[in-house]
Amino acid sequence: MPRVPLNDTSVAARLLAWYDRHHRELPWRTGPAEAARGVRPDPYRVWLSEIMLQQTTVAAVKPYFAKFVDRWPDVAALAAAETDAVMGAWAGLGYYSRARNLKACAVAVAGTHGGRFPDTVAGLRALPGIGDYTAGAIAAIAFGRPAAVVDGNVERVIARLHAIETPLPAAKAEIRAIVETLVPADRPGDFAQATMDLGATICTPRRPACIACPLNDGCLALKAGDPERFPPKAPKAEKPLRRGAAFVAVRDDGAILLRKRPKTGLLAGMAEPPTSAWTARADGATTADAAPFPADWRLAGKVAHVFTHFELDLTVLVADAGKRPAPSGTWWSLPDDIHDEALPTVMKKAIEVAAPRATRRDARRKD
Ligand code: ADE
Repeated sequence: MPRVPLNDTSVAARLLAWYDRHHRELPWRTGPAEAARGVRPDPYRVWLSEIMLQQTTVAAVKPYFAKFVDRWPDVAALAAAETDAVMGAWAGLGYYSRARNLKACAVAVAGTHGGRFPDTVAGLRALPGIGDYTAGAIAAIAFGRPAAVVDGNVERVIARLHAIETPLPAAKAEIRAIVETLVPADRPGDFAQATMDLGATICTPRRPACIACPLNDGCLALKAGDPERFPPKAPKAEKPLRRGAAFVAVRDDGAILLRKRPKTGLLAGMAEPPTSAWTARADGATTADAAPFPADWRLAGKVAHVFTHFELDLTVLVADAGKRPAPSGTWWSLPDDIHDEALPTVMKKAIEVAAPRATRRDARRKD
């Protein structure tokens, strides 16, 4: 591999100088005045933001982060929260086992660790829901440990800087080894966040703004004339398709019938309208035969949703349920309450298709 014409110290120094001027101001970071005094960000806020950022973008995380810290300002408060309340506040972020682990981790920190997060990669890694990436990120950002922090943005920056021809994920070990040589001992957390910010704002997947990049004169992908080509794409495996049906029963007063999903497995413990089993068979149960009770079930529409390991094609049926009592193991959720239910995105979509008025916030107003 040709060598990048920048030495390791120069890469770190340039990234840090760029970060000092252009970093994103984010609610879990310390402000410039505090940072200048060496004040590090609150580990609880760093941890919470990192878990959320594994799910989605900074922009999408911000309102969730604000809601969580407003409701549970520290790890002890989160540890004392009802799991269902945490699941409800997480609803919409996806991958719900993370929310369950969030609560379990808070309980571990508040209990076993006396309310303080461990300050080493190994100590953090031992907590529920904290993997290699998150342990490194918290250790570097909140505790100044010289950990190599490698997320998708960092992988792209390094793959381009070195014009690495191996596609991901095969290139991961090579990229990590490069990052390990770059981490500066004095500001590892800022270095990690600088690389991530550069990947998110300048070295973007498409149309990177190379002209504004502090590393442009050393970037081998730019030199090769086509930075967007890196990291090269491995051919994508197609996801299997599963089919199923969701049954949205609507009571006279607009309440929707919900139940809780099993404690383990996909979307564990979340709320949903009753559904059939989701099967990979083309003749899977997608008709009224699988309904929770006989009624005039009508086709309301379809919802397509992509999960990590499969795509779901959900047929949505709707029925008027009059004043029917809730069958055992289910409950009626009024339009006033439905927004507080721990409904995963796919189920929100199903209810929206079947009963748009139930999910519209202004439907709650009586005037
Ligand atoms: N993505 C995940 N964690 C981040 C952080 N701390 N700063 C910027 N982007 C991130």
